[in-house]
Amino acid sequence: MDTVKIGDRLYEGKAKILYATQDPDLYVMKFKDSATAFDGKKKGIIEDKGACNARISAKLFEVLADEGVANHYVKLLSPTDMLVRRLTIIPIEVVVRNIAAGSISKRLGLEEGTPLKVPVVELYLKSDALGDPLINEYHVRALNLATDEEVGVLTNMALRSNEILSGFFADKRLILVDFKLEFGKRPDGSVILGDEISPDTCRLWDRDSKEKLDKDRFRRDLGSVEEAYREVLSRVIGEVD
Ligand code: TMP
Repeated sequence: MDTVKIGDRLYEGKAKILYATQDPDLYVMKFKDSATAFDGKKKGIIEDKGACNARISAKLFEVLADEGVANHYVKLLSPTDMLVRRLTIIPIEVVVRNIAAGSISKRLGLEEGTPLKVPVVELYLKSDALGDPLINEYHVRALNLATDEEVGVLTNMALRSNEILSGFFADKRLILVDFKLEFGKRPDGSVILGDEISPDTCRLWDRDSKEKLDKDRFRRDLGSVEEAYREVLSRVIGEVD
């Protein structure tokens, strides 16, 4: 591949910027240090978050690809810049939960830390304006967000990713409490995994102390936010457990 030339800025989100390249099939995703929570109402900077999340996501995408979960990752171009395959994003956020925490604890009155008997898959409409409301397959059909077949594929890919990532993190003395995935379509119509997988989009607890090592430290003002991201990075890329 020729040297990648970063072109027009196509989209800027709360935590990442997407750029075109000279190859119409490849984009560059730049991970930022800025952080938001509660639909952007809370804002901050987490020093080195961009570099931590880019490296963590790169490793997790490699692990998933090795196990047959297709995703958009190509390679890292710099500490914060990831080369990815172009996708048409499906406007659904898919959350998988193993242990009750966050919004499910509130919604269903489950104490945080309660194990769920089976993993729970939830769909949310990707809409900042509406605060990403919870939806189900009927809404997906009614709003024409994806076909039934695509929903089946992304549900299965999310559950398979949960098995793979839960095992990977367990080896690193981390509990994967829950996480969010986004999917997109390739020009041939196949559905693959996109976006990022990082402490911004996962809840990760230390296996022994149950200490939170993810964005909840920022959301809930728990302190030691940077340290948590660095700790996850060092465990994820470390060879020794
Ligand atoms: P929740 O408990 O707030 O619904 O979050 C579930 C998981 O999804 C958690 O790991 C954090 C992640 N998440 C995102 O990645 N983006 C979001 O906008 C929200 C609300 C949650």
